[in-house]
Amino acid sequence: MKVFVTGGAGYIGSHTLVQLLAAGHEVCVFDNYCNSSPAALARVRQLTNRDLTAIDGDIRDADALTRALADFAPDAVIHFAGLKAVGESNAMPLAYYQTNVTGTMNLLAAMDAAECRRIVFSSSATVYGEARYLPFDEDHPVAPTNPYGRTKAMAEGVIADWATATPAASAVLLRYFNPVGAHESGRIGEDPQGIPNNLMPFVAQVAVGRRDKLAIFGDDYETRDGTGERDYIHVVDLAAAHLAAIGYAARAEGCQAINVGTGQGITVKELVAAYERACGHPIAYEVAPRRPGDVASSYAATDKAERLLQWRTALDVDAMCASSWRWQSENPDGYPGGAED
Ligand code: NAD
Ligand code: WQD
Repeated sequence: MKVFVTGGAGYIGSHTLVQLLAAGHEVCVFDNYCNSSPAALARVRQLTNRDLTAIDGDIRDADALTRALADFAPDAVIHFAGLKAVGESNAMPLAYYQTNVTGTMNLLAAMDAAECRRIVFSSSATVYGEARYLPFDEDHPVAPTNPYGRTKAMAEGVIADWATATPAASAVLLRYFNPVGAHESGRIGEDPQGIPNNLMPFVAQVAVGRRDKLAIFGDDYETRDGTGERDYIHVVDLAAAHLAAIGYAARAEGCQAINVGTGQGITVKELVAAYERACGHPIAYEVAPRRPGDVASSYAATDKAERLLQWRTALDVDAMCASSWRWQSENPDGYPGGAED
């Protein structure tokens, strides 16, 4: 299949490229590298010994997208490109709406012009907002509590309406829970700019000595040990879900929202303990106040993914931490500054 991948140089995109290329798909990446590096694509080429086309372009540029899709003529699109930091979305909401919503609308219009009818979209469990019950199933009300989440919910709505209006269209909205870990080679991984917002990359940077200690945001939640509980999913399992989703989109019409998680909650302290096993030394931490907006627990109902995609996770928390540690310890400063490696 010919697959057009927006945001393919990013964390989840690069891991998905490895599996797309290994499966024999022809790939065109469209990325402006605002939160990634061409070095990731160079490493994907090395890992797979396969080539891909890369276009340096911005999804806010409708003309550039239209040209790229017309030239490549894809069978399917995987749409990773987007801005993803909750805190930043509070500070600059319009930038989030422009990239995540307008960018998605530009992409759908370019798909129409190129007569491409299949899209797999990176959505997020954050669209559910406060849990009314757990596990979150796909029928849980969508009520995001921050601008980032609202852009994802809005993009989902735009894609669903497009799928309804477009004959033979197929859209899969993948609602990721908490992606972590890295490719087992240690050659590609998550490379956040500045202070990591998320738990796993922060723990990894403490483990490698880039930061002194972790702040655990609250130990008085109603969970097994008082710390927040999340559904961490290995990025390699998540990448496999995208291959399953393009396969599903090729055989089914319409629009489906599908959770992508393990179904299991892991607390902050459990994740730290697993990381200590992986890196072989203690991780320094202190307990700090709760982070505003955080919930006690979040985990996925996974039966819809199993039923529609015939996909489920295979990798456990020890594999997540071991692969993260390999990437972090072999690349303590992430990718080399934008250059080919
Ligand atoms: P990432 O930042 O590593 O990757 C996003 C990619 O999109 C980057 O390569 C970036 O340069 C590119 N990009 C951003 N704006 C662009 C623009 N205007 N034009 C072209 N390219 C642009 O993030 P990721 O973790 O790989 O996330 C991928 C997608 O998954 C995002 O849409 C994100 O919202 C979603 N998601 C991520 C998580 C997570 O925890 N990582 C969870 C749920 C959903
Ligand atoms: C996990 C747990 C924190 C950092 C976010 C986004 C969500 C999605 C995934 C994109 C919580 C605790 C964290 C730290 C800590 N992204 N923590 N110390 O908040 O579940 O989800 O990323 O779609 O939209 O909201 O993930 O990794 O930030 O936090 O104690 O330094 O770790 O309180 O319990 P979260 P996270």
